[in-house]
Amino acid sequence: MKDGSGRKIEYLRVSVTDKCNLRCAYCMPKDGICSLSHGEILTFEEIVRLTRILADLGVRRVRLTGGEPTVRRDFTSLVREISLIHGIEEVVMTSNGLLLEEMAPALWEAGLKGVNISIDALDEEVYKEITGSCGVKKALGAMEKCLALGMKVKLNCVPVRGVNEEQLLPLAMLTKSYPVDVRFIELMPLGCGAAFKGIPSEEIKGILSAELKLKEDPCKEGVKGPATYVRGEGFPGRIGFISPMTGKFCESCNRIRLTSDGFLKLCLYSSKGIPLRDLLRGGADDGKLKAAVAGAALQKPEGHFFGEEDPEREVKRMNEIGG
Ligand code: 5AD
Ligand code: SF4
Repeated sequence: MKDGSGRKIEYLRVSVTDKCNLRCAYCMPKDGICSLSHGEILTFEEIVRLTRILADLGVRRVRLTGGEPTVRRDFTSLVREISLIHGIEEVVMTSNGLLLEEMAPALWEAGLKGVNISIDALDEEVYKEITGSCGVKKALGAMEKCLALGMKVKLNCVPVRGVNEEQLLPLAMLTKSYPVDVRFIELMPLGCGAAFKGIPSEEIKGILSAELKLKEDPCKEGVKGPATYVRGEGFPGRIGFISPMTGKFCESCNRIRLTSDGFLKLCLYSSKGIPLRDLLRGGADDGKLKAAVAGAALQKPEGHFFGEEDPEREVKRMNEIGG
């Protein structure tokens, strides 16, 4: 499936719930959210059916996100069913890792190939300041378990000015001890994120370079997303930078999103898309759904325009979209 600018859409991100067991300040309001009702979110059957249709249209890779995907009941079964869809080559997930260590063996067995674990600090106090709970030990335990099983593991950190600056080097140093990619993601001014200041990737590179001898990592193997990588000399892991703010990567965008309430979202930064759930529950057959998706893909925005007034700009929160 191609979009209106000729980009091939091969990657689907599915938010399986808007609920989360953490309250990261840049993602969710502290006093909780009015979460979607049971009837509003897609059933597993609906997610699988829509993913099958998207696979028929060319989607090859699926990332399950939330909220926090592991808080959805029987999440492992969903992973198994999606892994079995004809055409889907890889199923991965993004998680905060709190419940992951225990679930990892079953998820691996169900076909999960990789996990991105969000960890914004190694110091429990700082971690708690950001997320509202202690979770460093659990997230690291999950990392070790997933690595031991053979999963691909990446750690995601969102650097926030005045909050976790001191944590960036310790986090990067994990790549010396473990074969993981530690990635720094520039904070995007979406939802609750608008109240915080991110740190540009170049500045982080500067902070890390002062302490570490870093080399651009020429190995493109395993690089499927918008991250660029460097590596400390002799380190098994890589350090990555995702720079939506200072280095737009929309030209090579290959993704589409399905929100937990079944909205097919064409671009993270735009509210454009179609309410697939309503079509599906209205009785549309596979042919009709396929045509609707292919038609919608043509409307995918060329890119985002932070700072400019855009009437279609997204106003939803990250926990609803899935990052
Ligand atoms: N900007 C950048 N990254 C964000 N995430 C959540 N909100 C934002 C934001 N405003 C990240 C989380 C997690 C992933 C799903 O998205 O830290 O790693
Ligand atoms: Fe893709 Fe939209 Fe992100 Fe650009 S802004 S990379 S088009 S999702």
